[in-house]
Amino acid sequence: MTKTLLVTGGAGYIGSHVVVELVRAGYCPVIVDNFCNSSPRAIQRVEHLVGQAIPVVRADVRDSTAMLRVFKDAQDSGQPISGVIHLAGLKAVGESVTKPLTYYENNVYGTVKLLDAMDQAGVASIVFSSSATIYGAPEHLPYTEGHRVSPVNPYGHSKAICEQVLKDWSICGGGRRAVALRYFNPIGADHSGLIGEDPRGVPNNLFPYITQVAVGRRQYLTLHGNDYKTPDGTGVRDYIHVTDLAVGHVRAVEFTQNQQGFTAVNLGTGQGTSVLQLVEAFEKATGQQILCKIGPRRQGDIAGAWADVSLARELLGWKAQRTITEMCADGWRWQSMNPEGYGQEV
Ligand code: NAD
Ligand code: WQD
Repeated sequence: MTKTLLVTGGAGYIGSHVVVELVRAGYCPVIVDNFCNSSPRAIQRVEHLVGQAIPVVRADVRDSTAMLRVFKDAQDSGQPISGVIHLAGLKAVGESVTKPLTYYENNVYGTVKLLDAMDQAGVASIVFSSSATIYGAPEHLPYTEGHRVSPVNPYGHSKAICEQVLKDWSICGGGRRAVALRYFNPIGADHSGLIGEDPRGVPNNLFPYITQVAVGRRQYLTLHGNDYKTPDGTGVRDYIHVTDLAVGHVRAVEFTQNQQGFTAVNLGTGQGTSVLQLVEAFEKATGQQILCKIGPRRQGDIAGAWADVSLARELLGWKAQRTITEMCADGWRWQSMNPEGYGQEV
């Protein structure tokens, strides 16, 4: 296996962190991104962080001609791509409800077209960005990988369908292998503060909303319900440091070298943290006060969700290392150093 890996969506929040950890582990990432939800500045920051240029192709994974050219150019340069980490995708649950076809076309069709280009290029290994969202309401907690797959929104369905596509693709020979990493709730930023989460518009997710309140871009945090059957009534989630998540991708790439077929693995900490607990941890870690107001429950939310992470440890030899305090401190370092994120696209 060569060290050259294609990273689709590598300019995004998680992708940029994955690229950093791939370089730190001695791999040579090549990024493909259409920049529909990211800035080329993120890649400039990554290059500054790792001290080397990162090949980037502005392209859509649905563009077969462009994707085949990426594989061919790598082959012709004497550094053929030996595997793919597929992060490119749309991820806003609420948007997926109003624009389901956009999500199925981008996430599902995009994955199908990428796999087809991989087949034509003779590349048989893929690590895929899946999501705990595919589980839907918990039958039991923690979620094991064997939990029923029962998504409740088009985004979650798109991820579940992608996993099925990967299963069927990986078992029809040719030494194909696929690992679906089911992320729980990635938050925080690289310790340097140079890269981080930069949502466009009003953040959908809790942590970037907290950091935007802290930096003065938002007046207060609305607590989406405090009457859940949880210790303090607010929603409980499994927050994982984005750098731990990124390292999990490096371990998954290594796992694919001795694996055949399809494997799904949870990436979380195995610990649940409530909204109020995260706010309290953030205030303690940063000295910033977060004004909170109680609002109604958010449609589709569940009370609690956290991972069984034993399979990741067994198969990938991976376990999340960073604490909630580190997630808060690192996330705040990014936001305070970059109050407007990456700013306007170049
Ligand atoms: P992101 O939006 O920051 O990154 C996604 C990247 O993919 C962006 O740079 C975007 O421009 C690019 N992209 C989207 N569609 C593309 C296409 N058709 N062709 C080329 N590039 C395309 O999101 P993220 O938080 O970094 O998430 C990365 C992946 O992880 C996504 O697939 C997402 O569904 C999944 N995921 C994210 C979370 C989370 O909480 N952030 C949780 C579970 C799973
Ligand atoms: C966390 C908790 C909210 C915002 C989502 C997607 C999932 C995945 C990860 C892509 C909940 C509460 C939130 C706010 C709040 N993304 N909250 N006020 O919903 O667990 O998962 O992101 O795969 O698909 O569904 O994360 O950060 O949106 O919410 O009280 O302003 O914070 O009710 O309890 P969630 P989240």
